[in-house]
Amino acid sequence: MEFTGAPRLLIASDLDHTMVEHGDHDNKSLLRFGALWQAHFSHDSLLVYSTGRSPKMFADLRGEVPLLTPAIAVLSCGTEIFYGDSMTEDDAWVDNINKGWSRAAVEEVANEMNLKYQCDSEQRPHKVSFHVRKEEAKYVIPSLREKLLAKGLDIKLIYSGGLDLDVLPRSAGKGQALRYLLNKLKAEGCVPQQTLVCGDSGNDQELFSVDNVFGVIVANAQDELLQWHANQVGDKSHIFVSTEKCAAGIIEAMKHFNLQPNVSPRDCNVPLSVHCRRIPKADPGAVAREVVEYLLLTEQWLRGDIDASEAAFRRLKFSLDKNSNRICARGIIDNPHEEIESLRNQHGSQKGKNFRIWADRVRSIKLSDDSWLVRFDKWERSDCVNLHLVQMLNGRVCSLVLFYKPMKNFRMEFAGN
Ligand code: GLC
Ligand code: MG
Repeated sequence: MEFTGAPRLLIASDLDHTMVEHGDHDNKSLLRFGALWQAHFSHDSLLVYSTGRSPKMFADLRGEVPLLTPAIAVLSCGTEIFYGDSMTEDDAWVDNINKGWSRAAVEEVANEMNLKYQCDSEQRPHKVSFHVRKEEAKYVIPSLREKLLAKGLDIKLIYSGGLDLDVLPRSAGKGQALRYLLNKLKAEGCVPQQTLVCGDSGNDQELFSVDNVFGVIVANAQDELLQWHANQVGDKSHIFVSTEKCAAGIIEAMKHFNLQPNVSPRDCNVPLSVHCRRIPKADPGAVAREVVEYLLLTEQWLRGDIDASEAAFRRLKFSLDKNSNRICARGIIDNPHEEIESLRNQHGSQKGKNFRIWADRVRSIKLSDDSWLVRFDKWERSDCVNLHLVQMLNGRVCSLVLFYKPMKNFRMEFAGN
């Protein structure tokens, strides 16, 4: 984790059909959420993904859509927990869920019943996964449960998306994993001020039963989760069923629960005036917002979403010290003001090309009372790149190191990557 102290907000979100809207070619709402998180939360809050995907399928998804790097990744339906960019696995969690578990015994019963296994990458040490059609689920699930319990196994069965059946240790699952993480944070004196859980299907249900969390069931949720919600008695005011789909529903829930700020920089105009612009008190959040606005403005210029104007140009240059150096990924050193000048003639050059730029892993270190060292990854996507679609779709083009001087300008240097 990049900061110490209690996170202002912890978001624990499912990925498929919750954070990620498959079929949305532009990933519009995911990019909106990403800009909001990066600009306003990344410096003091925790983003946790909680997905049924294995490490391999999680890595695949990160190559396909503009997902921010999470602080914590809870994978394989809450059976594997990884921290940070290095994806360091939590071995204590693995030990925790080992009790009463035998993969071999689960397979033995499944083979007897002739169940259809999911692909190899989704079979994990503490998760055995099958495909079971909705019509068959009604009798397959109770019968499998009965046989596994008869063998003395301490397991749980989770049905999601009207097709996926997961068998896990009873002590595992998305809800148990989140409880474990919250307890860990508590032991470190870092209880999040607020927690929001987000989901769309059966394996997310447990998240909504964790104590002291707000929850959003996104508009496009599966029947099994909506049914569960409908069957709940008592106070359900901590769970919001959004009217918008996927990540747009998460932003809607932030508004509903008054988790501030909740307006994405992608939903408002980047202020162009530099004369009356006052750089707020130097804090890591202010720097992150500057980075997000700078990249957003560059994107809008290239897409032709904003008018070609001197004001937009001045605003771009305002963020960068004239005397700084830029080291591109290929090792070429130049001056960022020259780079900005080269954009002048490219206004609108990316029109209609599904072109987007976004920042990930904005990190800042205070160097002295009036300067900060900031590093971030800049990503670009464009339809006009035609080779190896998935690899080229999201190409990390460079990492930037930026010095922030409050009340003066930014000085930016780029580190090769
Ligand atoms: C993901 C996993 C799959 C699992 C499903 C539901 O799709 O890849 O193995 O069954 O989530 O948890
Ligand atoms: Mg899902």
